[in-house]
Order: sequence, then C-alpha cells, then structure tokens
Amino acid sequence: MLEIRDLEVHYHTEDGDVHAVDGVNLTVRENQTIGLVGESGCGKSTLAKSLIRLLASNGEIVEGSVTLDGTEITELSLKELNKNIRWTEISMIPQNAMNALDPVQTVGDQIVEVILAHESDTSKRDARNRAKDLFEKLGIDENRIDDYPHQFSGGMAQRAIMGLALALSPTIILADEPTTALDVVIQDRILRVIKDLQDELGSAMILITHDMSVVSERCDDIAVMYGGRIVEYADAETIIKAPRHPYTLGLRNSFPDITEDSQNLISIPGAPPDLIDPDEGCKFAPRCPFAEDECWDVTPESREFDDGHFVKCHRADEAELLQREASKRDTWLDGTDESAEPATPEDVDD
Ligand SMILES: Nc1ncnc2c1ncn2[C@@H]1O[C@H](COP(=O)(O)OP(=O)(O)O)[C@@H](O)[C@H]1O
Ligand SMILES: [Mg+2]
Repeated sequence: MLEIRDLEVHYHTEDGDVHAVDGVNLTVRENQTIGLVGESGCGKSTLAKSLIRLLASNGEIVEGSVTLDGTEITELSLKELNKNIRWTEISMIPQNAMNALDPVQTVGDQIVEVILAHESDTSKRDARNRAKDLFEKLGIDENRIDDYPHQFSGGMAQRAIMGLALALSPTIILADEPTTALDVVIQDRILRVIKDLQDELGSAMILITHDMSVVSERCDDIAVMYGGRIVEYADAETIIKAPRHPYTLGLRNSFPDITEDSQNLISIPGAPPDLIDPDEGCKFAPRCPFAEDECWDVTPESREFDDGHFVKCHRADEAELLQREASKRDTWLDGTDESAEPATPEDVDD
C-alpha cells in the first residue's frame, strides 16, 4: 500500500548538497511493522519526514516517488496533504515529543483540535471523550487532559504525542525513536502500548530506532540504513541471525540483547560518513574490515538472496566467512582508526 521508489532527498547547504536519502526502495504492507535501524546520521528521520513532506526548509525530494494506495504523495498540494494524508493516513510520532507539543495549549485541546479539523461531523464533546479514552489507553490519568505540556513528565509527553498520532486511526504510523529519551522500564511499557493500539487499529508501522534489540522483538521486517541507503532488508529473524552486510553484522555485535555473550560487545570503530556530495562506492568501505578495492570505487547494487532478503554489498555472497570473522573482536580493530576505542558494555548500555 505504501510504495517508496528510488527516493532521493537532499538538504541544500552552503557546503553542498547533503544526500540524506540516497535511492531508497521500500514497500509497507497492511498491518506490517518494519524496523528502520542504523546509527545516528544515517538518514532515518529524513526518510520518515519525507513521506509526509515535513522536511526542514532546506530539504528537498529531488528524485523518486512515494505512493499510498496509488496516490502520489510527492505531487500533492499542501492543502491536499493536510486534508487527506497527514494524521488521517500517515501520522508521525516525532523524535522529540516535548518540542512537538504546543506549549500554550492544553494537551487535551491539541488532540481535540486534530480530531475536529478532520471530522466535521464530530462534536467537541465527543472529540474530548475520545481524547480521554486515548489518555486511558496510554496510561495517563484522564484528569490530566487540561494540563499544559510543561506539567507533563517526558514519558507522559511522549505518550500524549502518541495519542495525537493515533487519534484518527492512521493507516501508517511513523514512530521516530519513540522511546529513546526515556528510561528502560517506561520504554518497554510504551512500546507495548503502541503495539497494542497498532493491532487494534490495524495500522502498519515504521519503527525507527538506533537500538537493534528494540526492533528484533517488535518488527516483522527490518531495514538497515547506512549513509542514506537501505543496505540490508529481510525479515527480523534473518537480520538478527543471518545478516549478510558487514554493517548489520557490526551493529548486531554492539547490542547486548542480541549477541549471545553480552560481555562480548564490539562497537564499530569510526563514525557514519559525511553525506555532502558523496563519491561512488560503498559508503561503509572506510569502516569495513572486509572492504576490497571494488568497494571503494563501485556502488553496490541491491541483490536478492533468499526470498525477500536484499543486500547492498559486493561480498554478500560470502556470508559464512563474513559472519564468522565479524564475531571476532580483532576483525574490527585491524586497519581501522586507532583512536576509536572499543566500547565497554557500560558505554553501550546507556
Ligand atoms: N536541515 C538539515 N540540513 C542539512 N543537513 C541535515 C539537515 N537535517 C539533517 N541533516 C543531515 O542529514 C543526514 C541524515 O540525518 P537524519 O535523517 O536526521 O539521520 P538519523 O535520523 O538517521 O539520525 C545527517 O548527515 C544530518 O546531519
Ligand atoms: Mg533521527
């Protein structure tokens, strides 16, 4: 139902164009939950925002298409977008909840307003009751409905934003790191609430996170994003147990709930690439222990391995070797930047 084809999004800056989304293809089916993972700066938020065209003012979709049940979203007027797509069909739980709420309006009024703006035959009283209902489902005392955002804790604000995002039963929910700022106990509760409401509404979801252990539990499929590209895509079990891209293997090494030996966390040395006017080649090559000459010069095409398992890596057919070598700490130290210390478990935990 949602089809993203060859999508390219640039941010225009004084130093050149940031290629934040660089040729993304993705299909989201009914009721499906897709995890979108990758380190910070890989283009996850840009991809999500471009789907409802909420990019920063210097951002532009320069290529490709996004269709929802046949409607080309990239060509809609702002008016059509607001009336027919945002909130009702695709809604977003943004990365920073506090900033997304209007500080001078009560939280309840903000939810009521969204409902009334889209449903001309709903009364204010009914909308308010629906808002109270949502509060209850999200575990917020309904008496807090007339509070202002600053009276809410971070966790409550995050849940209120979810109320907003879910108020009109959207077809697709874009949840952008919905729990990253919260403590682990609340994180888990909130993720469960989202999942329950999603099931109840029959919505699909793209769950964005840099934390691979979150997506491994809650998603049908996982898309791994690096340098503006989806470098690997498969069902969650395959991504966790038998990934073929060295970046996925590296990410997997750095999360305690995934690796069998939680004491043996290995981080990927270095940092995600600068995306300004990039050259040809695999963007991961500078950090990849398996990079060969070809990787630096030739951008890898997407190749399909088992059914629905897509990988952009020149060496993806050597999965067994990659998986074996990637599990060794030494592999990630050789030939990489010496200043990049391997992470201790404490580092990765927070
Ligand atoms: N408004 C902007 N102007 C210029 N560059 C931006 C802007 N917003 C994001 N970027 C850059 O785009 C890239 C992708 O960012 P983002 O989509 O936020 O990644 P993620 O959500 O994976 O952390 C990064 O290199 C980031 O610095
Ligand atoms: Mg982000």
